[in-house]
Amino acid sequence: MNQQTLFRENGKKLINLKEASVWASQYLNRKITVSNISYLLQYGRVKKYGNDGEPLIDMNELKNYYDTYNKEKQWKKILGADLNWHLSFAEYKESERTKHVHRLHPYKGKFIPQLVEYFLDSHTDEFKKKIYFCKGDIVLDPFCGSGTTLVQANELGMHAIGIDISAFNSLISNIKVEKHNIPLVEETIRKLTLKLNNFQKNRNNIAFEEHLLHELTKFNYKYFPSPEYKRKIKRGEINEEKYAEEKEKRFLKIYYDLVKKYQIKIKQDRNNTFLDKWFLFPVREEIDFLLGEIKSITNNDIKRVLTVILSRTVRSCRATTHADLATLKQPVTETYYCKKHGKICKPLFTISGWWRRYTIDTLQRFREFDRLRTDTFQVCLSGDSRTIDIYREIMKKKPEFAAILSRQKIRGIFSSPPYVGLIDYHEQHAYAYELFDVGPKQDFRISEA
Ligand SMILES: C[S@@+](CC[C@H](N)C(=O)[O-])C[C@H]1O[C@@H](n2cnc3c(N)ncnc32)[C@H](O)[C@@H]1O
Repeated sequence: MNQQTLFRENGKKLINLKEASVWASQYLNRKITVSNISYLLQYGRVKKYGNDGEPLIDMNELKNYYDTYNKEKQWKKILGADLNWHLSFAEYKESERTKHVHRLHPYKGKFIPQLVEYFLDSHTDEFKKKIYFCKGDIVLDPFCGSGTTLVQANELGMHAIGIDISAFNSLISNIKVEKHNIPLVEETIRKLTLKLNNFQKNRNNIAFEEHLLHELTKFNYKYFPSPEYKRKIKRGEINEEKYAEEKEKRFLKIYYDLVKKYQIKIKQDRNNTFLDKWFLFPVREEIDFLLGEIKSITNNDIKRVLTVILSRTVRSCRATTHADLATLKQPVTETYYCKKHGKICKPLFTISGWWRRYTIDTLQRFREFDRLRTDTFQVCLSGDSRTIDIYREIMKKKPEFAAILSRQKIRGIFSSPPYVGLIDYHEQHAYAYELFDVGPKQDFRISEA
């Protein structure tokens, strides 16, 4: 560490962001970036010393923070010191755990790809003594979920068969591993986005949302300055509940004035289905418009890719608070105080932002995976893994793969069975089931097999 910038003030060891990132990386034996450290400052997890030009951190305070959050220590305390921490893959950053196509669509309860890689990969390391699969082998995942096993098998030069009882999960898995005509996907996205823009021209929701955002930025800057606001709460200088309630009320007046000015219809007329309940009226209009356009695409591969992008977009546009994204509570129809962000937030009135972001992101992820992909077969079948005739189904979908399957058989199974009672595999994609009419059918149920 550069001693010149190590100051001592009342017994504190003050270091700058870069030094803190170097120190923390060594201490935790994983990469901690400067932006990880600024995040801690921004959210008041550690105190900021120095000035804005050169923020400083107390090294002891940082150490205390990491000690408390050091998961390895915590888990070993609970489960015993012989826990093989290597298999937690905690040293991987979020972006590595969701690399390329793994992040094409959210899915609760998937493996991290590094775990799959560890068991499929034929090279041994100090932790792994046994080889289970080799290049060219066929791997079976009978509970394929979002296709993590298939993607990693491809990267490692192995064939793979997945099975999932949900047709929607099979779609996500197959879109991840299939090779797409990327220029054609890009061109279709361009045309669809233009059509969406034209559709929006006759509506007020875009102008309304822009105006609302402008007012929110001004308001939050004045009443919820970051990071001072959160720090004041931590020090007990502000009673969060009282303060936030008063400001929330004050902003609602501005909100409803804008709703009136732009004549925005907020709620849908019906409340029967998930789609009726969890999307504001202007968002639902845009979803239905894009869905109609996607249904009319004649190229089946492009249509399926766009279906997955629309599904991901729709999921991000549910009318919920930021804190309840994982477990929906009540539909949100107005601006609200968001405890997570420490300011006034709003539900979405257009899908534009997420649509733009996910279309660009999907193309990037396809390109990234194309650079790594091997010339092997992976298919996810849709059905019940207890009864499905694998060979017959593969024969229907990919006769060349069936020929390999009849010659060399399946080498082994790598899977994570359903977490029964912990994850509701229907609820997490309820909007997609309704939107694309992909189940659940009568005989469709998550088995405890
Ligand atoms: C824990 S998840 C698998 C997640 C997967 N490893 C991943 O990384 O995405 C289990 C999956 O098993 C599927 N499933 C449950 N019962 C099934 C059955 N009888 N046959 C096929 N799939 C089933 C569920 O739909 C769910 O997607």
